[in-house]
Amino acid sequence: MNMKTLIINYKAYEEAFTNGIDIARYSTELSKTSGVSIIVSPPFTILRDTVKIAKTIAQGVDEVDPGAFTAHVTWFELKQAAVAGTLLNHSEERYAHSKNGPIDYAALKMAVDKCAKAGLETYVCVQNLEEAKEILKMKPTGIAYEPPELIGGNISVSNSKPGIVKEFCSLIKENSQSLALIGAGIKGKEDAEKSVELGSDGLLVASGILKTNDYKSVINALVEGLSK
Ligand code: G3P
Repeated sequence: MNMKTLIINYKAYEEAFTNGIDIARYSTELSKTSGVSIIVSPPFTILRDTVKIAKTIAQGVDEVDPGAFTAHVTWFELKQAAVAGTLLNHSEERYAHSKNGPIDYAALKMAVDKCAKAGLETYVCVQNLEEAKEILKMKPTGIAYEPPELIGGNISVSNSKPGIVKEFCSLIKENSQSLALIGAGIKGKEDAEKSVELGSDGLLVASGILKTNDYKSVINALVEGLSK
């Protein structure tokens, strides 16, 4: 059985700044005993704090090199912060020129390539199978299927779209070395178990962990589900 991955996306939730360090610490403890690789993805301003205690990735990166690019985030900046890698193209921060516009695949590929060259892992989010087909050619570390309408809700992607999840996981496995991850609405053990059953290598979870004070129990439950 291959090692499963759990990515905890802190987004820009306030709780990232109150519970984020503790979540990172707990994730590391549990990674050691469970055999599930738990990665945290906090806001940029606390990357340097979590990086000391947990495997950490940024929430995004731009395709540019260091230079006159105010407010951009470069691969170089991520290396300086000593993170392991980054998410890219999350539904809330797409590589597109307008809100619902098409992905700028050329720019995204440039970012993935620059990160890979710098030794950074890349986890690229997709909204559907068509996007997944394009992204797998870029050979990122992982590809995460997250249907936007389920993000932040209580209906999990594994329950709501088992057919597409299965198809997504086979597509990635048969055509690439990337991890097939899924996210959106994932809240507990059953969701995690189901995702493994459908062929996934792991999960991306945000509100289910960040928006509860009982985050340790939720992380435990997800890890148990992934370990089945
Ligand atoms: O990146 C994870 C995310 O978009 C899913 O969010 O709140 O549905 O777990 P959530």
